[in-house]
Amino acid sequence: MVGFCGRDSSELASPTVLNILAISGSLRAASTNSALVAALARNAPAGCRVTVYDGLGRLPIFNPDDEGERTPREAAFLIDAVTGADGVIVSCPEYAHGVPGGLKNALDWLVSRDAAVAKPAMLTHASPRSLFARSALAEIMRTMSFAMYEGGLEIALLGKKPAEVEVILDEPGNVLAMRDALQGFADFIRGR
Ligand SMILES: Cc1cc2nc3c(=O)[nH]c(=O)nc-3n(C[C@H](O)[C@H](O)[C@H](O)COP(=O)(O)O)c2cc1C
Repeated sequence: MVGFCGRDSSELASPTVLNILAISGSLRAASTNSALVAALARNAPAGCRVTVYDGLGRLPIFNPDDEGERTPREAAFLIDAVTGADGVIVSCPEYAHGVPGGLKNALDWLVSRDAAVAKPAMLTHASPRSLFARSALAEIMRTMSFAMYEGGLEIALLGKKPAEVEVILDEPGNVLAMRDALQGFADFIRGR
């Protein structure tokens, strides 16, 4: 797991800082969704710390026979990370009009637990086209009893090269949009 701190070190010790776990559904080295969650972590407003989960590609394929005492270490790590987070952000590409297998696999490890139950969650999008995946993901996460925040964020990065992506993510309007989205999500979490 890669940690990013939203603000100064005094916040780290403060119990009022919200810990938000951000998951990219893409394993591509040049993933636009991964760039988006990294930018959210960099631009977290005061009172909010976003940590990026980077274990998606190390998770074994979910098997209900491997739950309980047999839970693999990487799956236990994910379950603990979600359990300990105040909220979860998911940014996910669309593959063949669906949710990529790697992300669905990660979610499957959380189904038979309490980790997702009433856990606030927000979806963000790096592609303006991913409408089937958005809807499927929201349905999956609602079924798992995540508390879905209706707000979200879309920054169109589809087809952009990494250098272009960073320029777009650093644009003042997009930095503001990221802060506003995180602030809205933080208010939603605090209001529950
Ligand atoms: C196997 C595969 C299937 C895809 N299927 C779709 C699709 O059905 N609809 C769509 O809008 N984009 C589709 N795409 C494009 C990706 O969703 C798009 O490139 C996305 O922005 C990649 O996210 P990333 O940069 O985080 O990896 C597909 C890409 C791949 C590799």
